[in-house]
Amino acid sequence: LVAAHPKMPALVASTCSACHGMTGISPLGEFPNLAGQGEPYLVKQIEDFRNHTRADPLAKSIMWGMAAMIPRHEIRAIALYFASQKGAPGQPANPKLVAAGRKLFMGGEIATHLPACMACHGATGRGLLPWFPRLAGQHQAYIIAQLQAFKAKTRTNDPHAIMRTVAGKLSTAQMTALAAYVHTL
Ligand code: HEM
Ligand code: HEM
Repeated sequence: LVAAHPKMPALVASTCSACHGMTGISPLGEFPNLAGQGEPYLVKQIEDFRNHTRADPLAKSIMWGMAAMIPRHEIRAIALYFASQKGAPGQPANPKLVAAGRKLFMGGEIATHLPACMACHGATGRGLLPWFPRLAGQHQAYIIAQLQAFKAKTRTNDPHAIMRTVAGKLSTAQMTALAAYVHTL
């Protein structure tokens, strides 16, 4: 059972909130919003920082240490807390990029066999299943960094290498367009 308004865990107040905000809306583009993210997804990411399958530069330099210090029995409560917060609202972005990103997100690309992102992340970017992350309202810099990390295979925690395959087909220009589009959702 998911409590409607779980109490803020002490570690969130003392530590995580410095970068992710008190309710999971972060102040900087490199730090992801966690609000409204699926609870199973958040638990899995914390595990993956701990087992080092997320090894892009900011994961390594910041989140490996943070994740390692969370007591095992508190992981779920922290994930539940952020999952139950209201997700970031859609925000304006460069209209040209948004239009190009929307096309890819909704329809994929036949020439490169790129699947439509909405098939998993949902037409409104909320994730069709709890372990498909919410992208709606997420910071553009963070989205681009993660797509680059999947492409460079420094982030290798995606089941069946789905995201490594998807991102491997994307150019930097396409990543930028997709990041602009999901920021507006
Ligand atoms: C990423 C949780 C503290 C900076 C993440 C993610 C989670 C998380 C779940 C992955 C989000 C996603 O995949 O969408 C936490 C928790 C914390 C904490 C529970 C407290 C124990 C911090 C602090 C900082 C920080 C204090 C800044 C000093 C970042 C950054 C990323 C990230 C930069 C992106 C890493 C990457 O590029 O792979 N965090 N965080 N976090 N967090 Fe934290
Ligand atoms: C993760 C974008 C297509 C399944 C992610 C993340 C991004 C992203 C930015 C990381 C989110 C975060 O760190 O918070 C996209 C884009 C797509 C696309 C732009 C289209 C070009 C797909 C498709 C599927 C999928 C088609 C399913 C077949 C997943 C899953 C994860 C993920 C399962 C989480 C992996 C993990 O456990 O860390 N995606 N995605 N995505 N995506 Fe996609």
